[in-house]
Amino acid sequence: MQNETRSLWPHKDLLDVDQLSKDELLHLLDTAAQFHEINRRPVKKVPTLKGKSVILFFAEPSTRTKTSFDVAGKRLSADTFSLAKSGSSLQKGESLKDTALTLEAMNPDVLVIRHSSSGAARFLADRLACGVVNAGDGWHAHPTQALLDCYSLRQVWGDTFEGRTLCILGDIAHSRVARSNVKLLTSLGVRVRLCAPRTLLPAGVGNWPVEVFTDLDAAVRDADAVMCLRLQLERQQAGLLPDLREYSNRYCLTPRRLELAKPEARVLHPGPMNRGLEIASSIADAPASLVLDQVAAGVATRMAILFLLATRTDGGR
Ligand code: CP
Repeated sequence: MQNETRSLWPHKDLLDVDQLSKDELLHLLDTAAQFHEINRRPVKKVPTLKGKSVILFFAEPSTRTKTSFDVAGKRLSADTFSLAKSGSSLQKGESLKDTALTLEAMNPDVLVIRHSSSGAARFLADRLACGVVNAGDGWHAHPTQALLDCYSLRQVWGDTFEGRTLCILGDIAHSRVARSNVKLLTSLGVRVRLCAPRTLLPAGVGNWPVEVFTDLDAAVRDADAVMCLRLQLERQQAGLLPDLREYSNRYCLTPRRLELAKPEARVLHPGPMNRGLEIASSIADAPASLVLDQVAAGVATRMAILFLLATRTDGGR
């Protein structure tokens, strides 16, 4: 596995999904599947990354991504260290570059960053010698979320992505999850439909390799999966939506609407969910829901990412 890792994983950083070839993607997903098996054992710890250090630098809030990277690192026996914006010298005005150079001087193997600025992860990757993982940058990209979503769908669909239909529903305009998922899943042959009110569709969406809908019933019809996105209420001051009740009436995934999809259709949500706004509570908790499978997949996928990045240069010694 060690020599294989060196040849199949050439990347110092993981910044977005479009840097991965199909072989690299499959290698990452297969590696995640091996780690998923470890997560089901009574003793969920292996010495694979003993002696490696991972810094989690989250300048925006996170529950799933931060915790799952922390759990992932610890289950591989890496030492993980967390820094949040609150309580750090970012609050005293230290720049992102100086913060990152300071962290790098502590000689981590991987730095995981979440930041509100699109491009923040690339900015650091270009300046730091350690591996950099983009854990979400502005509206730009959330590659580890797309990879865990792909992993979750693979558990249901196997390797038959070609010709499947996925409806992504909700606040597309502000969604880095949508952007990374569109890139990744269309590259595997999935037909992606985006559904949102016009004010929550991104500028230039006509150039994306997707079908665009404003009518949810039409968008969901015969879909193999529906991914609901969080309405980013903190970004709604701009008056993009006149009324949340109206939004919920038109864009909430309800049992009646899910019946329009294929009978075996699955539902995804990256979280955190606004129950009753973009997803009915009964759907979030239904057998068709993959929401908690996504969380479990997140640990396995992030274990794979940390492993591939941290062992890239030394072949896993
Ligand atoms: N999906 C996701 O990124 O969730 P968190 O913001 O909780 O990390």
